[in-house]
Amino acid sequence: MTTTLLRGRLLSFHRAPLSLADSQSYLYEEDGGLLIEDGLIAAVGPYADVKAKAAEGAAEIDHRPHLIMPGFIDMHLHFPQMQVIASYAANLLEWLNTYTFPEECRFVESAHAQRIATHFYDELIRHGTTTAVAYCSVHKTSADAFFAEAMKRNMRMVGGKVMMDRNAPQGLLDTPEMGYDETRQVIAEWHGKGRNHVAITPRFAITSTPAQMEATSALAREFPDLHIQTHLSENHDEIKFTCELYPEAIDYTDIYARYGLLGPKSLFGHAIHLSEREADVMSDAGAVAVHCPTSNLFLGSGLFPLKALTRRQNPVRIGVATDIGGGSSYSMLKTMDEAYKIQQLLGERLNPLESYYLMTRGNAEALSLADRIGTLEPGTEADLVVLDAAATPAMALKMETVKTLPEELFLLQTMGDDRAIAETYVAGVALKAVLR
Ligand code: GUN
Ligand code: ZN
Repeated sequence: MTTTLLRGRLLSFHRAPLSLADSQSYLYEEDGGLLIEDGLIAAVGPYADVKAKAAEGAAEIDHRPHLIMPGFIDMHLHFPQMQVIASYAANLLEWLNTYTFPEECRFVESAHAQRIATHFYDELIRHGTTTAVAYCSVHKTSADAFFAEAMKRNMRMVGGKVMMDRNAPQGLLDTPEMGYDETRQVIAEWHGKGRNHVAITPRFAITSTPAQMEATSALAREFPDLHIQTHLSENHDEIKFTCELYPEAIDYTDIYARYGLLGPKSLFGHAIHLSEREADVMSDAGAVAVHCPTSNLFLGSGLFPLKALTRRQNPVRIGVATDIGGGSSYSMLKTMDEAYKIQQLLGERLNPLESYYLMTRGNAEALSLADRIGTLEPGTEADLVVLDAAATPAMALKMETVKTLPEELFLLQTMGDDRAIAETYVAGVALKAVLR
């Protein structure tokens, strides 16, 4: 048995914080101990108590004065868009057609897919992200590269071969049959292998014909436990075009509802411009709206009403994500910095406890995986991030004024990036220090 004892300041959420003063919503240990046995958290608490439980001679790593938290979870990003990031476009549809679709065509080559997969996991680890929910490209080769690399790193990852059969270049199109068959192959080869989860992934209604939506619907019925991921209501021109393509639907959300794609495992990227009716439908289904703040600002898509959606009588479940390469940073800290600013512009407050809850336990709950990841609870997987709030000279200077935990968290969120990630543990193994 491999046993490791970590020492540091520990933070883990029990539930969503109700306010900045809600200290009951989280565990905080000033001098904490975290015992890891065979990749799982075996004990957590005051250092002296946990040390007493550790076997004689267990390896011990002292992370003081840093903060040890559950690893960050990124609920939506595109693995084939690492070289699309920072592309200059007027809006979503121009960005897709000019940069994104041509770039994704390259993933038919497995050597290219494998090379980018290596960089993809390196960046996640560098930024403290231990689980991510990703779109591959339409090519099965891209899903193979994505899941093979996840297994090498032993990371809990969710991903899917994209299904798309219209409104894109020929090299990026499958057919309803191919999309169905290849998704089944990806499920058979990768789902449940290592820590992999396969998601059913129709890109969005614009790039799927009604026949492909039927095929997607069949997959959802055959594999009811799988996540489904797609895009919804991101940009006004996109919404208009989508509704023209499906004139029988009441609105954008209704298109997916008609094909049985709305449920508690359904993850809808963006969902910025929902009507009250659509929000009610999402809420009733338990579907998740995934907020991608850096992307929404970068592409000028709109201001996601996070607070309004969570406080309504029928609240909508929320996830948070980078949306690389529409998003402009791999960092979940930077992502929440931008999420904060979006709420500021909407006249709302997003407090730092809520931000850190969302990046960890909140996203794990949105994935229905909180029994395995997203907390420091014993029995769960030891995916961790170690945060250094004084990582840069400017941060260290500001840290001199910090008196409370929420102040420290807010400083990390506002000024932090990959430099603030002192270490990233995946199933109990430190992976950041050994990166190329
Ligand atoms: N809608 C359909 N595909 C995409 C994509 O790759 N990125 C974003 N941001 N929106 C999309
Ligand atoms: Zn996306």
